[in-house]
Amino acid sequence: MSEWSALAAALAEELTAAGKLRSPHWQAALRAVPRHELVPVHYTMDPHTGAWSAANTADDLPLVYSNTALFVLPEGRSSTSMPGLMTRMLETLDIRDGHRVLEIGAGTGYNAALLCHRLGEEHVFAVDVEPELVALARQRLARLGYHPTLVAADGVHGLPEHAPYDRIVATCAVPAVPWGWVAQIREDGLILVDVKIGQQAGNQVLLRRCGQRTQGQRTQGQRTQGQRTQGQGAQGRFDPTYGSFMSLRRAGASTSAVPSHPTNRDGANRRTTTLELTRPWEQTAFWFFAHLVALPPGTTFSLRGEEPHRPPRNTVLHCADGSWCEVREDPGNDGSRVVWETGPRPLWRLIEDSHAQWRRLGRPGWERFGLTVTAERHCIWLDSPEGEHTWVRPHLDTERALRP
Ligand SMILES: C[S@@+](CC[C@H](N)C(=O)[O-])C[C@H]1O[C@@H](n2cnc3c(N)ncnc32)[C@H](O)[C@@H]1O
Repeated sequence: MSEWSALAAALAEELTAAGKLRSPHWQAALRAVPRHELVPVHYTMDPHTGAWSAANTADDLPLVYSNTALFVLPEGRSSTSMPGLMTRMLETLDIRDGHRVLEIGAGTGYNAALLCHRLGEEHVFAVDVEPELVALARQRLARLGYHPTLVAADGVHGLPEHAPYDRIVATCAVPAVPWGWVAQIREDGLILVDVKIGQQAGNQVLLRRCGQRTQGQRTQGQRTQGQRTQGQGAQGRFDPTYGSFMSLRRAGASTSAVPSHPTNRDGANRRTTTLELTRPWEQTAFWFFAHLVALPPGTTFSLRGEEPHRPPRNTVLHCADGSWCEVREDPGNDGSRVVWETGPRPLWRLIEDSHAQWRRLGRPGWERFGLTVTAERHCIWLDSPEGEHTWVRPHLDTERALRP
């Protein structure tokens, strides 16, 4: 047995023991696909200088066969996800023989290779917005004997010319599920996608398509998003375990890091908080809830330091109208923490109020949240789509909602 096959087999065992890999089909795929051939180079950033450097994975096979995400383009423009996250997603999708699967975010082609091994290349379709990555993935997959349909395109449109699909899996996060994806999936088919309605505010959701497809959608080779008929849509629950992907980028847009905002405490309102929540985004289900009920769209978070030689630890929230708050991490003697807040919206007060509301609802975790997507709107719900707590979001016209 070659070194890489022994390492791939060990990774399959590790993921099986961790409950991230279950079925013999996917275990066999994991053992058979040489990840180092699809990820021959990975990039790391020097945390001090910010400079990116490349390394050959052949020189560190144990790394490439570990459950680790690796950057495959400099500036973090693309990564190959943790194998355990991919296998968990493939298991969740309940992929069966003969299924046609579309992947949005092909990246290195590793996931596509697992799908080819499981389903046969004629059933696998994948798009990525980076033409350079698609060309490399195509070459490397071909060397392994796999020829799936790989297209360099903006995945927001799906791949209508090869629809319908039984499954769509997106390995990049979207602020809203593009209607085209729903239109391109067959009835009862599944979409697994990371929906993030704000910075790190969201999770993977498994949606089942309901309602009849129209004649227009059934026709192959048509570049339409499909006609919309009443009663169509997709619905499902968020994954109980939090997972996160890089955001979907629009073709031609530059990668933008979350900006850091200057905050001048002079003139800001100074008060204290007794809320024992230092980094609200780390309580992922609450952070999502706070976006649903209170936080303005586009709220960003960052950390700010008070002492030059210690890592930044104060929480800063900021939104587009100039409102910001800073919350000191260390409490005073009475256990309360200092808050500076200014601008039209008291952001920390919004966090305190939404946290109180979240506690009253029994601190709901991801397993209680669900999403219904129709042609007209997105509706996020707690416990049940017909329940008392639903948050209707405006119709997410993909062109508008996903514009960078
Ligand atoms: C986490 S990586 C995917 C990893 C990949 N599945 C693998 O097996 O290596 C996310 C990918 O989404 C791609 N992406 C970002 N925006 C996109 C878009 N609008 N359409 C299609 N792909 C996009 C990125 O270029 C990146 O390769």
